[in-house]
Amino acid sequence: MDVKIYEYDAVVVGAGLAGLAAAKKLTEAGKATAVITKLHPLRSHSGAAQGGINAALSKDDSTELHEFDTVKGSDYLADQDCVELMCSKAPETIRWAERMGAVFSRDKEGDIAIRPFGGQSKPRACYAKDRTGLTLLQTIYEQAFRAGIEVFDEWYAGDLLYENGKVSGVVAYNIRNSEVAIFNAKVTMFATGGHGRAYRFNSNAHANTGDSLSIVARHGLPLEDMEFVQFHPSGLGGSGILISEAARGEGGRLFNSEGERFMSKYAPNAMELASRDVVSRAIMEEVRAGKGVGKDKQSVNIDLTHLDPEIILTRLPELRELAIAFQGQDMLKEPIHISATAHYSMGGIPTNINCQVRKNPKELVEGFYAAGECSCVSVHGANRLGANSLLEALFFGRHAGENMVKALDEGVELRKVKKSDADRFISELTTVRTSNGKESVPQLRTELQNGMTADAGVFRSKESLERQLKLIDELLERYKNIRIDDKSKTFNTDLQEALELGHMLEFSKFIVYGALEREESRGGHYREDFPTRDDNRFLKHTYVYMDKDYNLTHEWADVVLGKFEPMERKY
Ligand code: FUM
Repeated sequence: MDVKIYEYDAVVVGAGLAGLAAAKKLTEAGKATAVITKLHPLRSHSGAAQGGINAALSKDDSTELHEFDTVKGSDYLADQDCVELMCSKAPETIRWAERMGAVFSRDKEGDIAIRPFGGQSKPRACYAKDRTGLTLLQTIYEQAFRAGIEVFDEWYAGDLLYENGKVSGVVAYNIRNSEVAIFNAKVTMFATGGHGRAYRFNSNAHANTGDSLSIVARHGLPLEDMEFVQFHPSGLGGSGILISEAARGEGGRLFNSEGERFMSKYAPNAMELASRDVVSRAIMEEVRAGKGVGKDKQSVNIDLTHLDPEIILTRLPELRELAIAFQGQDMLKEPIHISATAHYSMGGIPTNINCQVRKNPKELVEGFYAAGECSCVSVHGANRLGANSLLEALFFGRHAGENMVKALDEGVELRKVKKSDADRFISELTTVRTSNGKESVPQLRTELQNGMTADAGVFRSKESLERQLKLIDELLERYKNIRIDDKSKTFNTDLQEALELGHMLEFSKFIVYGALEREESRGGHYREDFPTRDDNRFLKHTYVYMDKDYNLTHEWADVVLGKFEPMERKY
């Protein structure tokens, strides 16, 4: 196979908010930059974020309060230096987005409107109706395009060029015709988003298969805190499609089948605006107690019918349309069915505060950066606050871009690669495309997703996690015997889905392994057999490594503490 080698100063994989913000900075600074993305940038999952982006803008709010809420929300596992940086830069990040053309909703005074979100002491989610992510994505794409970014869309990055502690780009294939190319670069950044598709009920785009996590792990590099998966309280019952927290922020109330406003039992003060982990567990407890609604009794009701219809029509129009389209329920007239849905990965590729990827807790990889949901910087710890994800992606994406520009200006050598460096990925592609075994990819994926939701979901225990670990090992074996019916090289979606499944099986093992090792409950990780937080043993980050036979090992790394001492956190 003929392999082209492209040379760039920088290669950015992923074209959501983080990737585009970095690419814009690099291109503006005159650095030759390639953006590689398996989707068109405007189809990136950042565009699905609905409710808002946090910044302490109001007079009675402060960046310190934002920091406190973020650290408390994280169940004290966030690194406080990174939290301080992000929260202190949040107002400036909003103004940057606005100057680029992002049209935020306004209040009566004409200022940027803010709404309350869960776990926050003050309202601070700035929003554009319920299409905040889409507004920001369109804006940054326009401006990055204007700056002249070079995009390779519908290209799938399948391997990292990593040798002797240094990254020199990626190997990718063109989904249109299966042509393989090497993108050889001085600096490389991963901004590939989340991994929610590993779960049966999730709010994520089909593309969110977490490929980059296992691409990194296959080189013996660690993944951090993967056991922390956020379950958003309000996914549409049955499908998991996101109904923004803005629905509760604007006043939505949760009821069980007996008409009880059940949050009064779980979080009497914060009620529906408790942190996401608390509300998700409360919903699942009600369902377990047989107080669910809907055909299969697996949902609860969110009721917005008491609100002025104008609020729904002007601030939540997309949510209303989604509930009508997917469930035939009009929130203006009746409560709608929702349930907890896998939403966000707090863990990922470990980085330092400057978005440089870590080789282990003490050493950095040369020339390698990550930002956004695929990374773990870590500002979310064990549980992310709603509306901190757009902020993290936009702020740390730009920050990574600036740091890459600085490194390039200081002088980074291009380590020239050889065509044979693509061999490992070409062999994976060929093996998968020509597979003639007996196992079906959709069947294996369904078994993985069902198992993750049932056994590594909102509630976990040693027994359920060991069952899921065993299942993943069996699925990894069966994956060697898959069958791909489409042998063509043109837009072969069977091939792509099979590659993605390989990644999902591998990184899911990190989630389950970390959850087993962490014998405590913290944030989004709830162990029924260890229901309390244990700071003595587990106020630590988890670093997990994989060998060639998918065996995992781990070490613990210190959390960066700061001005906020760990305290008991109820909601
Ligand atoms: O509920 C939402 O609108 C989601 C926002 C987020 O995850 O930050």
